[in-house]
Amino acid sequence: MTVINTISELRECLAQHRKEGHSIGLVPTMGALHEGHASLVRRSVKENDVTVVSIFLNPTQFNDPKDLERYPRTLDADCRILEQCGADIAFAPTVKEIYPEPDTRQFSYPPTDTVMEGAMRPGHFNGVCQIVSKLFSYVEPDRGYFGEKDYQQIAVIRRMADDLGFRLQIVPCPVVRQSDGLALSSRNALLSPEERKTAANIYRILNESRSLGLSVQQTHDWVVKEINAIPGLEVQYFSIVDGDSLADVTSWDETASIVGCITVFCGTTPIRLIDHIRYK
Ligand code: PAJ
Repeated sequence: MTVINTISELRECLAQHRKEGHSIGLVPTMGALHEGHASLVRRSVKENDVTVVSIFLNPTQFNDPKDLERYPRTLDADCRILEQCGADIAFAPTVKEIYPEPDTRQFSYPPTDTVMEGAMRPGHFNGVCQIVSKLFSYVEPDRGYFGEKDYQQIAVIRRMADDLGFRLQIVPCPVVRQSDGLALSSRNALLSPEERKTAANIYRILNESRSLGLSVQQTHDWVVKEINAIPGLEVQYFSIVDGDSLADVTSWDETASIVGCITVFCGTTPIRLIDHIRYK
């Protein structure tokens, strides 16, 4: 695996591959890699001749400076994981390389970027669109791999890619979970062992909510009540939405795809955990 730090070197290396007719898969990450990221990388390796994994802790998508400060940084371990997964190129640029000047571009794809995480973290998806659009331009991938762990992020990136005319295929990949159901996340490392155990209740309750036979509103209220009843957990929002547009739904037969997206504060710090459940 080659580790590349500059855009010009990345472009040069990929131009060579393109000349040889190689297909290119891109897996954008912010590092602190775990099995969730690894699943995306392995899928890309299987489906493309060349896999580029970007490792870039993108400052423009953090609306809380403390969140950025405490985000784990583990570049050496990340590179070992990528090597084991068979990635060809790790692209690990500096902030100056990506943003020599402040990025003043504004993206707006309502309702995908205004609801849920968009409402709770103003500017977050604008920062995601800034970095992901830059990566798409540098790499010009045939396929881009994104985890359904960040369900809303995929909906926003699809809109951005359509809008800007990127011709890649966006490949959504299933959430990788621990055996007790907790979705793997770089932020899990910030939980104490006890908080870590408590956090598993989120998915257990989401999963249970699928078989209650309640209305949309009742299901919503049940999930919020059950999770808030657990000491150390507090729901920030739970939204039951159309799986594509992310618009709220009020009845189960309103649309073909329905998901419930949740954000829960866990523990005393607290750490924000996000997850979702598919109802249909
Ligand atoms: P990051 O949180 O590092 O995640 C990188 C990719 O890994 C995302 O597509 C995310 O959905 C996926 N991922 C994380 N945990 C996962 C899990 N348990 N199962 C499956 N996939 C998982 O998401 C970002 O970085 C950034 O916003 C980024 C797109 C890189 C832009 O900066």
